[in-house]
Amino acid sequence: MENEQISIHDFDVSLICELHIGLERQGPGSPEMTIKALSFLDNLDKISRVADLGCGTGGQTMILAQNINGNITGVDFFPDFINIFNDNAKKFNLQDRVNGIVGLMENLPFQKEEFDLIWSEGAIANIGFEKALNYWKDFLKTDGYIAVTYESWFTDKRPAEIEKFWVDAVPEINTIGHNISIMQKAGYHFVAAFTLPEKCWTDNYFIPREAAQKALLKKYPGNKTVEAFVACMQHEAKLYSKYKQYYGYVFYIGKKIKMV
Ligand SMILES: C[S@@+](CC[C@H](N)C(=O)[O-])C[C@H]1O[C@@H](n2cnc3c(N)ncnc32)[C@H](O)[C@@H]1O
Repeated sequence: MENEQISIHDFDVSLICELHIGLERQGPGSPEMTIKALSFLDNLDKISRVADLGCGTGGQTMILAQNINGNITGVDFFPDFINIFNDNAKKFNLQDRVNGIVGLMENLPFQKEEFDLIWSEGAIANIGFEKALNYWKDFLKTDGYIAVTYESWFTDKRPAEIEKFWVDAVPEINTIGHNISIMQKAGYHFVAAFTLPEKCWTDNYFIPREAAQKALLKKYPGNKTVEAFVACMQHEAKLYSKYKQYYGYVFYIGKKIKMV
């Protein structure tokens, strides 16, 4: 198989977990952008219950916790990520109000209208932007906020190579304007959208991941699956440097509207 034809969906999730487990983040982002997204929320001091969905090992969760007073529950389906998440909470002395649980973003173990804020960085595409916005809204109080990062097109037209790559990875991928309209249709007041800078992908994700890829190859010498997986990761990073003007992660922030 040519590297270009291999998709991330061809690999076992445990391999994806193993590659990402030692990284500070499991996807593009930065503390600065997490704090910037928080700056669009009113009454930060009144936020008492927060869910961070697809939290990974909690890179962004610890930043959230250092900037708001509320209790945060992180949810991720990889138990190994949640173990590290809870170790990180202890390391930052946040264990009294930050707790990670193993669970599915599409089947949340929470009460209706339990949260003031639902956060999700780099994870919403796993269950679908529109589906998640609709489903998660039930768990938000009226006037509660949602803040998510999501892969988005910056232009209406793209070169075929990058179009194919992302439509395969995230079939629903669309433009920022379209995504804002989905958010509004789902019953949120649109608050803000902003693009994550390049550094969030390169310095904070691809560069540390490259070191983890090397370590994985060293751990499994001659393993064809691991080699193909690492080639797939390298291909993704190469495409980013070639086509970054066409797509990126966008933070979308919305507020749940009262239904009358
Ligand atoms: C790209 S990573 C982002 C992790 C973290 N939020 C960050 O930005 O560093 C996506 C996360 O979503 C989790 N995930 C994917 N599908 C999930 C699902 N259906 N339910 C819960 N977690 C899921 C993965 O285990 C992974 O930790």
